[in-house]
Amino acid sequence: MLITFEGIDGAGKSTQIKKLVAWLASRDVEAVTLREPGGTAVAEKIRSILLESREDISPIGELLLFSASRAELVQEVIMPALSSGKTVILDRFYDSTSAYQGYGRGIDLEVLRSIIAISTCAITPDITFYLDIKPEEALSRKFSAKSLPLAFDHEELDRMERSGLEFYRHVRQGYLDIISREGDRFVSLDALEDAECIHRKIVETLNSRIQA
Ligand SMILES: Nc1ncnc2c1ncn2[C@@H]1O[C@H](COP(=O)(O)OP(=O)(O)O)[C@@H](O)[C@H]1O
Ligand SMILES: [Mg+2]
Repeated sequence: MLITFEGIDGAGKSTQIKKLVAWLASRDVEAVTLREPGGTAVAEKIRSILLESREDISPIGELLLFSASRAELVQEVIMPALSSGKTVILDRFYDSTSAYQGYGRGIDLEVLRSIIAISTCAITPDITFYLDIKPEEALSRKFSAKSLPLAFDHEELDRMERSGLEFYRHVRQGYLDIISREGDRFVSLDALEDAECIHRKIVETLNSRIQA
């Protein structure tokens, strides 16, 4: 089973994944947890180019780097884990590419579709939890966690996070568009709710899908 988490930076993906992994472990379900970009030696190198570079990266270059990282992860780790019957939990997958590189950077969505199909070997998540939050709220959460003043170009932010408020507004709108077109796979959650309350909803959803 492939479970993915989506949402803009600061939405609470890592927080929820941690809770879900603990819940699965308490039921003796071994889960493989991975984050994008990264997850193999090569993909982690690509991650550092994408997130730590101080140089500009062109939108197409960025798309291909994310896709190269994804191709490594899918072939080296995700496909073998799924084939051996493991539950795989992903912190971001190709919906991030549609939202960030498509709606955020403005790359044609048809172009993205073919690159996504190639880089994922056409794997689709069984379920995708989307944590919805306004960028202002998400970013201010991140800033307060790091005790930083609210500044969208702060040097402590990674290269993607420095893309600015307007960029994040497009990305969020992108996620909402994707969900309105491809609703069945998604469970949309209000990221402003209490973390424990969101976790209970995730568990309830998984329980009811597993029974069904
Ligand atoms: N439901 C929530 N309510 C309030 N704060 C939260 C909630 N979920 C996460 N946070 C806090 O928001 C910040 C970002 O959460 P995180 O899980 O790292 O988000 P993401 O992985 O999506 O970037 C962290 O400081 C985290 O403790
Ligand atoms: Mg995170």
